[in-house]
Amino acid sequence: KSNYGIETDTITLQRFVLNEQRKYPSATGDLTNLLVSLCTAFKAISAAVRKAGLAQLYGIAGQTNVQGEEVKKLDVLSNELMINMLRSSLNTCAMVSEEDEEVISVEPSRQGKYIVTFDPLDGSSNIDCLVSIGTIFGIYKRISPDGIVTNEDILQPGRKLIAAGYCLYGSACMVVLSTGHGVNGFQLDPSIGEFILTNPNMQCPTKGKIYSLNEGYAKKWSKGVSEYVRTRKFPEQGKSAMGQRYVGSMVADVHRTLLNGGIFLYPGTTDAPKGKLRLLYECNPMAYIMEQAGGLATTGKGSILDLQPVKIHERSPIFLGSKEDVEELISYLEKYD
Ligand code: AHM
Ligand code: MG
Repeated sequence: KSNYGIETDTITLQRFVLNEQRKYPSATGDLTNLLVSLCTAFKAISAAVRKAGLAQLYGIAGQTNVQGEEVKKLDVLSNELMINMLRSSLNTCAMVSEEDEEVISVEPSRQGKYIVTFDPLDGSSNIDCLVSIGTIFGIYKRISPDGIVTNEDILQPGRKLIAAGYCLYGSACMVVLSTGHGVNGFQLDPSIGEFILTNPNMQCPTKGKIYSLNEGYAKKWSKGVSEYVRTRKFPEQGKSAMGQRYVGSMVADVHRTLLNGGIFLYPGTTDAPKGKLRLLYECNPMAYIMEQAGGLATTGKGSILDLQPVKIHERSPIFLGSKEDVEELISYLEKYD
């Protein structure tokens, strides 16, 4: 530390990824550039979520900004930020966003070799009441050499991810990232506008004390899920009950599960057999992070990452978290479903 109480040799996200990539002689620096562009989007979204510049939004005339335009909804704004930052990075050739029905293309002159899937602002029901929300992303390399991006390029299983992670806009802003060599967490230092490595080599505890799901749908669960949840509250003799937490923002619920252990569940129900969460930009990136941190992520029948997607917005049931907790859940599903 210097005399001014400032660390003079911090590891920023950019520095960390550059270092990681240097281990590969074939690395071009493209992924680093892409991740740095993503971080710029996260910083802008974080500022918008915190309503920095509130006075610009709420003028004396009400909820219109100084230019007299209607204020953009945060999720729409976040989507535009993600698309524009990724496009201008010159490293992407196509994007899939929760907010866009179709694949988002990139004009040939600005194309690079990566495909990015993302949910720009997940937890939409929590936006207006100021509860934690997040951005989720997955990065794939295109398979076809160049020219038109094919279906095969877009619909790759999660196993093929090059990198994935999320940015949590919580009580602090944090990026959790894996490029396939473990998981690292970077907290935003607003005083310098950089993500700083604060949580190196994150590991999900092998067992936790918290289960997390929306219990309002209990009537529509399978027998296996019902029995698993019932026995969390009324354990067999010798076992202890688990605590329960559910934010309703996947990023916040998964982040807690990664740090403290336990299990997050979004099962299929009788009226929605594939649940709610989307494979390409919700389940796969989170499953990748969990597996990289030593945890598990399953559909109930197999690893999320092995699913072959057929549609860009398809859904999947998901159960993820501590290895032993997920394995115990699977034993219930095998016994009762
Ligand atoms: P969204 O993409 O419309 O925001 O929905 C996804 C969110 C997840 O963050 C969260 O895990 C889930 O929906 C909560 O759903 P529910 O309200 O059914 O429990
Ligand atoms: Mg979402």
